[in-house]
Amino acid sequence: MSQLLHALAALLTVSLVAAGPCDIYNAGGYPCVAAHSTTRSLLNSYNGPLYQVTRGSDGKSTNIYPLSTGGVANAATQDSFCKLTTCLITVIYDQSGKGNDLSAAPSGGAASGPVSGGYDFVASAIGARVKVGGHEAYGVFTTLATGYRRDNTNGIATGNQPEGIYAVVDGTHYNGNCCWDYGNAETNNRDNGATHMEALYFGSARGTAAGTGNGPWIQADLENGLFAGNQSGSVNPNSPSINYRFTTGIVKGAQSNLWSIRGGNAQSGSLSTFFRGPRPAGYYPMNKEGAIILGIGGDNSDGAQGTFYEGVMTTGFPSDEVENQVQANIVAAGYATTNEYSGPALTVGSAVSLQASGLSGQQYIGHNGSSVSIMPVSSSSSETQKQDVTFTVRSGNNGHCFSFEAVNSPGSFIRHYAYQLYVDNSDNQQRSPSTFADDSTFCPEPGFTGSGSAFRSWSYPTRFFRRVSDGDVYIGTQGGPFAWDSATNFVQQATFTARNGLA
Ligand SMILES: *[C@@H]1O[C@H](CO)[C@@H](O)[C@H](O)[C@H]1NC(C)=O
Ligand SMILES: *[C@@H]1O[C@H](CO)[C@@H](O)[C@H](O)[C@H]1NC(C)=O
Repeated sequence: MSQLLHALAALLTVSLVAAGPCDIYNAGGYPCVAAHSTTRSLLNSYNGPLYQVTRGSDGKSTNIYPLSTGGVANAATQDSFCKLTTCLITVIYDQSGKGNDLSAAPSGGAASGPVSGGYDFVASAIGARVKVGGHEAYGVFTTLATGYRRDNTNGIATGNQPEGIYAVVDGTHYNGNCCWDYGNAETNNRDNGATHMEALYFGSARGTAAGTGNGPWIQADLENGLFAGNQSGSVNPNSPSINYRFTTGIVKGAQSNLWSIRGGNAQSGSLSTFFRGPRPAGYYPMNKEGAIILGIGGDNSDGAQGTFYEGVMTTGFPSDEVENQVQANIVAAGYATTNEYSGPALTVGSAVSLQASGLSGQQYIGHNGSSVSIMPVSSSSSETQKQDVTFTVRSGNNGHCFSFEAVNSPGSFIRHYAYQLYVDNSDNQQRSPSTFADDSTFCPEPGFTGSGSAFRSWSYPTRFFRRVSDGDVYIGTQGGPFAWDSATNFVQQATFTARNGLA
């Protein structure tokens, strides 16, 4: 008998340990109706695809599954499928069984997507490397004009129906533009007015009711207003700036005039409640429409950036206690940082010259003032010419990967602006000083030819240093809407070798 009890207790422990966030919500009576994650299964029984990647070399796609039922993503299948080419996350599958998969967001009232047919960009498959439970995995790093959506959904709250939303995000990757959201939005991609959205917003846009400090904050995007509290025009003193590397955010709304915002550190500890009370004036009853957005606003406002690891939408207004169990599950999943790049490392403080592949003679990325182009330089060239192609490797200006400082122009770094490379300092007002640190940070990946390196833009991780036929250098992809995205010759044009600095 005691043996039997012991066995039962062991079984119970196993099932509790193995339960995913949606098992917890389902058991609590608030079923998941959308469950999205590129890093792990959100149900202990889920063994379907987590996401789809599409590669630039031949346009083929494959699905990435969990390593085991209920487990972490099998990142190795992505790594081999995407070897020596570029890869995009083209579908994020719904694990809830409702079929609410996300793909490139269509054109909306605020912004037309840049891709053919008016669709937004989708995320790089390697923009957000992390570890989950000791395994390598990839999150969804979104930048300007990048977003996912599903207008025709199944089971998502509409009208004044109750719902719960949580997401795990990178609390250090955000901006103050509209709007990095995950949740419920308009089905026609337009701004249909107050009450037509209920989404979790993350970023430093000062909303109709902001939180304390300078952000970022977890806010609710209820359309025509971001709310960290319910008093329009004032600060909610209980809503702090929150920027844990892995941040859990919660927004939920009840059938009655009650809603709540909560948050915490996705790596440890419990959730705090930042707001719980009546909705802001004019936001009850709600008129939710039931589309799902990720990384954009309800009208496809697409100026924001952020990183998504996992999130769900439920029916019903989840209790704080059930959400606390979900937070414990997220903490137990074990999110951690890992090396952000996989190409040949660079030595900080060393001088390098970046030699182009596929060109005769020795040709390097160089600069003349702020203009960047490919320059032929050899041992017989002048010292000035050698200096023009020599850069000191620095730790990345935004704290990630690396930056390249011109040896003959201290304080000036290679950066991209409007997709083209320049050598510039951080306060040149002509070229977006506010994004200088992010846009002058680059991560080495293996060269696309099979040797050397490719230099991925940290802030636009679908894009790599790429020379074009006239010798200018852009950040480009293997197939995309711009001239510097042509699939032809991408492999050679986006591969460089970091040599010892010529000067
Ligand atoms: C805002 O919420 C608080 C509770 O957090 C409540 O006491 C107050 O009445 C609400 N204000 C409005 C305008 O609804
Ligand atoms: C550098 O740029 C200036 C101004 O555009 C130009 O006059 C000069 O010839 C360039 N120098 C070289 C070495 O190309």
